[in-house]
Amino acid sequence: MHRGAMLLLGLVVLDLAFALTPFWPSCARRAAPATPTSGATVTAAVQAATPNPATAGKDLATRMGCLACHSVDGTRLIGASWKGLSGSTRDLESGESVTADAAYLAESIRDPDAKVVKSYPAGLMGPSIQSHQATLAKQETIDALLAYIESLK
Ligand code: HEC
Repeated sequence: MHRGAMLLLGLVVLDLAFALTPFWPSCARRAAPATPTSGATVTAAVQAATPNPATAGKDLATRMGCLACHSVDGTRLIGASWKGLSGSTRDLESGESVTADAAYLAESIRDPDAKVVKSYPAGLMGPSIQSHQATLAKQETIDALLAYIESLK
């Protein structure tokens, strides 16, 4: 489901909760007296839907198709597995070696061919994530993806 659709669903659920509040005494006691559609309420709804960044990252990676090419269990697919990737040493086609720190991972996501990992094909990832450029331009997307990748020890 799209993020927008999920947010909408969340808001509908939230609206429902507020609509039911008068008939639900225990809920009424906890509900804030004021504005059901305030920004704070929406933020709370989003946070409730995505309890931690790694979970949000997993969801994003699934929806953007990253996991079609990157496994999370060590299996080699079209790209390298994300298991154990964070903090590891990457040998590049250029002959250099780099540490897969946050800066490297973020660059590899935003500009896939800036550094090409040895024995993996250049030019495949870029076009296949082109349609997600707007999402990938957001820092929160990168942060969530990194949190997910870093959680895969
Ligand atoms: C069509 C297959 C494909 C898709 C889809 C894809 N990737 Fe990749 N990815 C690759 C390949 C191949 C490489 C290695 C070549 C390169 O660096 O360009 C790579 C490299 C990477 C690297 C560096 C990995 C390393 O081994 O050091 C990261 C991080 C990464 N991808 C993240 C992502 C994320 C996040 C997405 C989804 C938004 C994604 N990829 C979608 C194929 C893909």
